[in-house]
Amino acid sequence: MAGLFISFEGGDGSGKSTQVDLLAKALADAGRDVVVTREPGGTAMGAEIRNLLLHGDDMGPRAEALLYAADRSHHVQSKIRPALERGAVVVTDRFLDSSVAYQGAARELGTEEVRDLSLWAVGGLLPDITFLLDVSAYVSAERAAARTGGKLDRLERAGAEFHEAVREQYRLLAEREPERFHILDASRAPDDLAAEIGGVVNRLIEERA
Ligand code: TYD
Repeated sequence: MAGLFISFEGGDGSGKSTQVDLLAKALADAGRDVVVTREPGGTAMGAEIRNLLLHGDDMGPRAEALLYAADRSHHVQSKIRPALERGAVVVTDRFLDSSVAYQGAARELGTEEVRDLSLWAVGGLLPDITFLLDVSAYVSAERAAARTGGKLDRLERAGAEFHEAVREQYRLLAEREPERFHILDASRAPDDLAAEIGGVVNRLIEERA
């Protein structure tokens, strides 16, 4: 595929969305065709799935994993693949690694089966590069609470212990695929992080040109 597929990963409140926006703006300013998206909820159907996941009834871990995978499958088929095929840069706020880290950290499902489910859902598509914004559970919970005015959603309520487990899962994933993952300390200044991310992406684009 001709385009470039970039994902951002990290705990809630890691500053992913800020970095996604800054990168997208820099790419658009440089005249690139850029598609910014997110999971869950990057499509109209995905927005409905997102609503079920974040604000719906409590559900079992398998139903949850299947809904994230269904959202991802539709997202790839209807939005990500077509954009990559026309040569665009796709920047997504979360992708498959979120499922492995979050659903895997819950410990009710194995990380391998969650990954296999998602890979099946997306026909094996993986990002060219994944930026992991590594953040401590404490900073993450504080930022999330500040952003929502102290009102946390269902997953955010799950607490610091869970977030620490998510962080650990992410680090394991990054260790397993060092060529795909680029780990960043999310406590750094946003502009500083954006400069590093922009540099990595520009190098990748040049390498491919
Ligand atoms: P997101 O909208 O990125 O929230 P935040 O900005 O707080 O990070 O993601 C919503 C929640 O969904 C977040 O708590 C992580 C969770 N999630 C999973 O558990 N599995 C997944 O596969 C994805 C994509 C998200």
